[in-house]
Amino acid sequence: MKFHVLTLFPEMILQGLNTSITGRAIDSGYISLEAVNIRDFAENKHNRVDDYPYGGGAGMVMQAGPVCKAYESVAGDMEKKPRVIYLTPQGSVFTQAMAKELAGEEELVFLCGHYEGIDERVLEEIVTDPVSIGDYVLTGGELPAMVMIDAISRLVPGVLSNEESAQFESFQDSLLEYPQYTRPAVWREKEVPPVLLSGHHQNVEKWRREQSVIRTAKRRPDLLKTAELTPSEQALAEKMLAKKEDL
Ligand code: 6GU
Repeated sequence: MKFHVLTLFPEMILQGLNTSITGRAIDSGYISLEAVNIRDFAENKHNRVDDYPYGGGAGMVMQAGPVCKAYESVAGDMEKKPRVIYLTPQGSVFTQAMAKELAGEEELVFLCGHYEGIDERVLEEIVTDPVSIGDYVLTGGELPAMVMIDAISRLVPGVLSNEESAQFESFQDSLLEYPQYTRPAVWREKEVPPVLLSGHHQNVEKWRREQSVIRTAKRRPDLLKTAELTPSEQALAEKMLAKKEDL
């Protein structure tokens, strides 16, 4: 997978993603990352890429010309037109299903806006997917692009080790993860749940599954609609929904 990011802050993208698992994936060639500085395509000698909004109002708007030229510098020599993801609070909300779909592409272009936005005319020409990462307002599209690239990368074959990826395959898909514990067995008088020390694999699995159902009912009841629960798990979920105060 090749990621191309059009941005006014290329160093932010590179620094953030050349670290940890995405950094390892870049080093070993499972993904590649290019950050293109839109300012390099400024059309005036002051290197400005923004101007006042027509019609007035607060803030500045990124101009169509430099954004379009930055896009052409990456898409110009591609065989087919790439999907172009524009990071904007006005987009569709990013989900794991979208991450899965996008992980099937060979190349992806991310367009990061700043200021009050980008001239609508270039967005109409190049953007295929306007995407938001949630209902809150950020100062720019760089962090959302990094969030998306991280989520997509870990679905690209080879990026995670077999051990790292195995866990996420299971039918637990629409349930929250169960709680985890490591040594010491007692910490500040708090004990690890005894079943986890029992060595009884079936009981451990049963306990974990119950904990996932309880946690999902308490914290994310909306997810239970798509979860596949056995009748006894369904009963447990309903019991938790009835008394939601204890977590
Ligand atoms: Cl994609 N951009 C900005 N500026 N703010 C956001 C966002 C994107 N998603 C949520 N908030």
